[in-house]
Amino acid sequence: DWTPDAFVESTVKALKEKLGNDKVIMGLSGGVDSSVAAFLLNKAIGTNLHCIFVDNGLLRKDEYATVLESYKGLGLNVKGVDAADRFYEALVGESDPEKKRKIIGGMFIEVFDEESHKVEGAKWLGQGTIYPDVIESVSATGGPSATIKSHHNVGGLPDFMKLKVVEPLRLLFKDEVRRVGRSLEIPEIIIGRHPFPGPGLGIRILGDITKEKVRILQEVDHIFISGLKKWDLYDKVWQAGVILLPVQSVGVMGDERTYEKAVALRAVESTDGMTADWVHLPYDFLAEISNKIINGVKGINRVTYDISSKPPATIEWE
Ligand code: XMP
Repeated sequence: DWTPDAFVESTVKALKEKLGNDKVIMGLSGGVDSSVAAFLLNKAIGTNLHCIFVDNGLLRKDEYATVLESYKGLGLNVKGVDAADRFYEALVGESDPEKKRKIIGGMFIEVFDEESHKVEGAKWLGQGTIYPDVIESVSATGGPSATIKSHHNVGGLPDFMKLKVVEPLRLLFKDEVRRVGRSLEIPEIIIGRHPFPGPGLGIRILGDITKEKVRILQEVDHIFISGLKKWDLYDKVWQAGVILLPVQSVGVMGDERTYEKAVALRAVESTDGMTADWVHLPYDFLAEISNKIINGVKGINRVTYDISSKPPATIEWE
C-alpha cells in the first residue's frame, strides 16, 4: 500500500530530522531523478539546499536555459554554471567511449567542486540515485560484468569532497519517482522527460566531439523529439534520441553529388532501462522526420532507424 503522498510525507519528515539546519549541495542534471530528489529536499530544508546545474555543452538544444528557468520558477535555490567550453576543450581529439565518459565525468567533478567550495559549511551531498542505479553499480564491481560501462552515478564521489550523502529516492523505481514528482506538483515537462545519459550528447556523437557536431546533433535531435511530441508519441516511448554516426555517404542534391554524414534515430520501450525493445514507430512519422532532417539540417544526407533491442544491443551506441 505504498502511495506517493505517504512517501513524500514520511520522507520530508525524515529529511528534516536527519538534516536539521545543515546545508546540502546537489548537482542537477535536468533529469527526472535529480529533479524529484531536489524538490523533496527543497520541501524539507528550503534554501539550505544549494543546487548547481552545470551546462556541459552536451545537453539537448535550449535545454540548459529552459530547465534552469523552470527550476527557478518553481522556487528551487539553484545556480547555473555555463562550463560548455571547458568540456569541449577537455574532449578535443578523444574518440574512445569510456575515455570520453571519464573526461566528461572528471570535468563535471572539477566544476562541481569549484562551485561547492563557494557554499560555506555544507555538510551533505544530495543525490538522485534510484534503485536500479544501486543494483547496476553493485553488479559492476565484480564478476563477469566487471567491464560493464562506467556509467554509474553511485559511489564515484571524490574523497576530497568529504560530504555525507543523502539519497531520498534510493529505494524507488523510475515509475515511483515519477509518481512522487507528480505528488510534489512538479510540472509534466520535467516529470515526463525521457531518461538522458549523464555524458549527454557526448556519447551520441560516435568518435571525437566538436562544437559543430554538437550543434548539428542538437538540431537533428530537436526535430526528432519535437516530432514525437507533435505526433503524440513522446509519452509512449521510454527513451528516444539520435546518434551522429562517424560515417559519410553519397547523396544527391539537385545536380550535385553530396558526401555527408548519417544519423541513426533510436526509440525504445522499457520499464527500467535494463532491457528494451525498439519501438515500431509509424512509417508516416519516420518519413516526415527523415524529410525534415535531410532538408533542414545541413551536413546530414541520410537518416536510419535503429531496430535493435537490448540485449544484446544497448540503448546507447557507446
Ligand atoms: P545502455 O546504453 O547501457 O543504457 O543500454 C541504459 C540506460 O542508461 C543510460 N546511460 C547512461 N546514463 N551515464 C548515465 O547517467 C552514462 O554514461 C550512461 N550510459 C548509458 C542510457 O541513456 C539508458 O537510459
